[in-house]
Amino acid sequence: MSAPTFKNFTAPNREIILGVGGGISAYKSCELLRRLQDHGFLVSVIPTRSSLNFVGKATWEALSGRPVQDELWNNVHEVPHIALAKRASAIVIAPATADLIARIAHGRADDMLTNVVIASSAPLILVPAMHTEMWLNSATVENVALLRKRGVIVVEPAVGKLTSGDVGVGRYPEISEIIPVVEKATKHSPDLLGKKVLISAGGTREKIDPVRYIGNHSSGKQGIALALAAASRGAEVSLVLANAKEIALEGVSIIHVESALEMQAAMELRFDQADIVVMSAAVADARPTSYSAEKLATSNYTSIDLVENPDIIAELATRKSGQFIIGFAAQTGDGAKSKANEKMKSKKLDLIYLNDVSNGKIFGEDETEGVVLSPDGNETPFAKASKMTLANNLLNIAIDKLG
Ligand code: CTP
Repeated sequence: MSAPTFKNFTAPNREIILGVGGGISAYKSCELLRRLQDHGFLVSVIPTRSSLNFVGKATWEALSGRPVQDELWNNVHEVPHIALAKRASAIVIAPATADLIARIAHGRADDMLTNVVIASSAPLILVPAMHTEMWLNSATVENVALLRKRGVIVVEPAVGKLTSGDVGVGRYPEISEIIPVVEKATKHSPDLLGKKVLISAGGTREKIDPVRYIGNHSSGKQGIALALAAASRGAEVSLVLANAKEIALEGVSIIHVESALEMQAAMELRFDQADIVVMSAAVADARPTSYSAEKLATSNYTSIDLVENPDIIAELATRKSGQFIIGFAAQTGDGAKSKANEKMKSKKLDLIYLNDVSNGKIFGEDETEGVVLSPDGNETPFAKASKMTLANNLLNIAIDKLG
């Protein structure tokens, strides 16, 4: 499974490496990893060999949702340390032990983590945690001073109770103090942190018989772009996805559906908790009155009785409690703007994006062009650009309105 690619889209400032040194406080980095993910970061973990005595590789793989490269001598042909080093917007090492600090200060590259550090030009953040004596040892003091002189960010360890029972400087700092350091270094500002975003995407399919269905051309790309954009800005994202290719999007919870009724059920379940709801799916307006379990013979396939599908967003909007709702209108021909405005009004949307899909335009493409309409009569043209750019523009408006 791989995510679709979008032109002009790389997850900016989100990719980071979490190096884990061999200290007893390595377990605290499990929580650090989770909180970094909550803030929209995509995290690859590189544990040192000695740290695996405290927290195993399986834990890191499960928590990060990514394979863990801990050995320099695995997959040598892929030169993994260079690939990881290139991808990272920052390297955070927590806990950074006295030994690891010494090795980095002296340019050693004798394991995967130190190889990545030396091969990367990304900001390096060290979170030291060790016994007071080790932290105050003149070798550590000089190594830290040398690293700081080179521009390495060294977070001050906290003062408090240590594993030995002693009290002093050297404790793993509070995670709430580490995260802002990472955000500042990566320039990643998750402005949707704490917000829940619910998105529908793709085109619903209404089954006629085991072979045939009523469907449409929607690829789901715009909704997927919205999901990626929202997740990268720190939101908790649910994507109700109809009939799009099997994909995996890090940090996005995907609910696969097929028909309009299934989509309605999935949206209803999540609507009340959502802050922003984007209905980018193309919902089939009607479904066959009955489903034939046997394939219909051609002679019986001359007409299909239809029953209207529910208007998902219009029904949800009736129980609105502060959600900002964005709809889409794919139109062709004259009067598109007044039709879109009418849809916005009748469905009680807070915004609608209108695009012209005549001659198969927009569907399945990476780019879009159209106009953003709002209930106060504002019209903002969206000149041809990536669906990711539109996604971020729509989210900007939603954040602005939600305050
Ligand atoms: N929509 C919906 N449920 C439906 C039909 C549409 O929630 N049964 C949503 C779409 O996801 C979109 C908006 O309503 O955000 C407008 O969809 P569109 O298909 O353009 O509007 P319709 O109301 O179906 O009008 P028509 O097909 O007649 O143009």
